[in-house]
Amino acid sequence: MMLPGSLFRPTRRRLLAGAGAALCAPAVWRARADELPALRDLGAARGIEIGSAFSLDPDPKYRAVIARHCAVITPEWQMKPPQIKPDAASPYDFSTVDKFFDFAGRHSQKVHGHTLFWFHVPIDWAVGDTFEETKKLYGGFIRTVAGRYPQIETWDVLNELIDDDSFRLRTGYLVGQYGYDFIDFCLRTAREAAPQARLAINDYWIECAAQVCVGKRGGVLDMLKTIKEMGSPLDALGIQSHLYSRMPVDPDATYDLINEAAGLGLESWISELDVNDSTLPADIAERDALVADIYARYLAGTLRHPAVKRVIFWGISDYYNWVLYDKDHWDQRPPETGDARPALFDTANEPKAAFHAVARVLAAAPYR
Ligand code: XIL
Repeated sequence: MMLPGSLFRPTRRRLLAGAGAALCAPAVWRARADELPALRDLGAARGIEIGSAFSLDPDPKYRAVIARHCAVITPEWQMKPPQIKPDAASPYDFSTVDKFFDFAGRHSQKVHGHTLFWFHVPIDWAVGDTFEETKKLYGGFIRTVAGRYPQIETWDVLNELIDDDSFRLRTGYLVGQYGYDFIDFCLRTAREAAPQARLAINDYWIECAAQVCVGKRGGVLDMLKTIKEMGSPLDALGIQSHLYSRMPVDPDATYDLINEAAGLGLESWISELDVNDSTLPADIAERDALVADIYARYLAGTLRHPAVKRVIFWGISDYYNWVLYDKDHWDQRPPETGDARPALFDTANEPKAAFHAVARVLAAAPYR
C-alpha cells in the first residue's frame, strides 16, 4: 500500500470519543472485560491462533485486552528493518523488540516476526552495487535478526511483493532488480537462520471483490507457484485482510485462493485484519453492526478452510489502531462520518458488536 513516509513516525492521537461512545452502547455489550470469553481460547479450541499487532502502549486496560485475547502478538512497526538498523553506522538495536518478548513471556504468547523485507521501509545500507554484495549485506541482516530470536515460530520474510497495477512483482527496491532470485535468497537465508520457523510472504488486497483484488489474487498465486517451482522454502501465505467498507469483501474468492495455496502445501494466515469503516453511517450502533457483519462474513467464509491457522488483528482495539492514528494520511475519511471504529474493542477498550460477532464465528468454526 502506498503509505506516505510520514506514516512511519510513531505518531498517535488519543481519541476521547470512545469513552462517550461506550456509554451509549447497548447493555449486552457491557460485560466486564474479564467476563468475556477469551478469543485465544475460542480459537485454540478450533486449532486457530488469535493475535494482534501491538506497539507496547502502557495503558493497563489495553494491555489486559491484548493479554487476555491474544495467543500471538506482533510488533506493529518496531521490527521493521530500519527500526532495527537504520544505517550502516548504527549498531543493531534490539532493545525495543526485546520488550515484546518480555510481555509475551508474561502472558504465554508467541511473537510473530514482521517483517524482514518491505519495499516501503528500505534499508539502503544493505543494498550493494552487485547481487553478490547485496546478498552479503541483506543476508547479514536476515541472519542477524532471525538468528537472534530462535523462539520466533513464524516470520513474514517478505511483505507486499505484488504491484497494484501490473499484478506482477514490483519493479523497485531489490525485487525489481533481482526478481525471484532475491526472493529465493531471502527465503533460504531465513530458513538457515531460523530453521524452527514457518516462513510467510504477506500481501494485501487479495480479499475483496474489486478488480484490483481479482488481479492481485492472480498475481499472488502466480508468484507462489513460481516460488514453489524454484524449491524455495515457504510455508505460508499471509493474507493481510485490511478490509474496507468501500471495497466489499469476497470470502468465497479468498477461500479459493486459500485452497489453491493449500494445494501448493501452504498454510494461510489472516495476518492483519481490520475493517476500515470510512464510508459507513455516522450512527455508532448502526456502524458497529455493519463492521461486525463484515468481520463475521469474512471470517466465516475463510475459516471454513482448515489451512487457515491463525487470525491476527491489525490492532484488536480502537484505543490503539492505525486506521485512527494514520487516518489523516491514509484513507481520507469524510468528516461527517465521525471517528473510525475499525476494531473489536472501542477506544475505552470495551467490546463492540464486532467482538461478539468474531467470538461467535470462532466458536462455530470447524476444527483443524
Ligand atoms: C503499518 C503500521 O500499522 C503503522 O503504524 C505504520 O505507520 C505503517 O505500517 N501493511 C503492513 C503493516 O504489512 O506493516 C502496516 O503497518 C500496515 C499495512
